[in-house]
Amino acid sequence: MAQVVAIINQKGGVGKSTTAVNLSAALGMLGKRVLVVDFDPQGNATSGFGLDKDELKLDVYNALMDSTPIKETISHDATEGVDVAPATIQLAGAEIELVSVMARESVLRYVLEDVRDEYDFIFVDCPPSLGLLTVNALVAADSLLIPIQCEFYALEGLTKLLESMRMVKGRLNPTLDIFGVLMTMHDVRTTLSRQVVDEVREYFGDKVFESVIPRNVKLSEAPSHGLPVCLYAPTSKGAIAYDALAQEVVDRG
Ligand SMILES: Nc1ncnc2c1ncn2[C@@H]1O[C@H](COP(=O)(O)OP(=O)(O)OP(=O)(O)O)[C@@H](O)[C@H]1O
Ligand SMILES: [Mg+2]
Repeated sequence: MAQVVAIINQKGGVGKSTTAVNLSAALGMLGKRVLVVDFDPQGNATSGFGLDKDELKLDVYNALMDSTPIKETISHDATEGVDVAPATIQLAGAEIELVSVMARESVLRYVLEDVRDEYDFIFVDCPPSLGLLTVNALVAADSLLIPIQCEFYALEGLTKLLESMRMVKGRLNPTLDIFGVLMTMHDVRTTLSRQVVDEVREYFGDKVFESVIPRNVKLSEAPSHGLPVCLYAPTSKGAIAYDALAQEVVDRG
């Protein structure tokens, strides 16, 4: 049975999609079977794997809203071991249309039941908000992977995320837990980056991954080539960091 991990932080641009793509690809290389569910209408994880959004006939929206089996939306072997349930801008409609659906917070959970036994990991790349899509991810997930950018005010806003987590845990998903906290866009040259890492470690303790993702230009270039960094620039610092993270994720199980 797959472990369902939501990659979540309502703050924008902290490295959620970059982590969804590159961690999944690295796990695929380690022989794991991975499904990436793109749960953001921006579709950054979808294009990060080189899928052309204009050519997709079905996406996660169809699985959520018109009972299309999620299997029919999946693109297989985007990279070795990795399947993708893609998103297009169509998914933005779900945020509104879900409001009137029965058990609206649990739709993704039901949708994923169909594929859980086919993967080792299912990663849900969340949008930068705490709306109904994100709540669905919180209900569907076994655990959360929270990327935090190494910058001033890094912890700001996290209280809100943890509050949402507690709320969902209390009412709909009692076993929800934090899988890990990931420091992203770290710059070894700055004391600020070091301070932020220390501060986050103090707050989250051993939930914080040992692996820290450096700021690395190859990570920002790779999506425009539709490739994860392990294929675009396999010897880059970014690729090495995501490989190390993948190993850590396997060890944490
Ligand atoms: N470690 C890194 N080094 C350099 N650039 C990075 C790194 N991680 C992410 N980026 C770049 O920063 C931008 C934001 O990253 P990303 O899209 O992964 O964040 P996000 O949290 O998914 O954003 P959103 O909230 O909009 O979904 C992207 O342009 C990405 O290429
Ligand atoms: Mg994103």
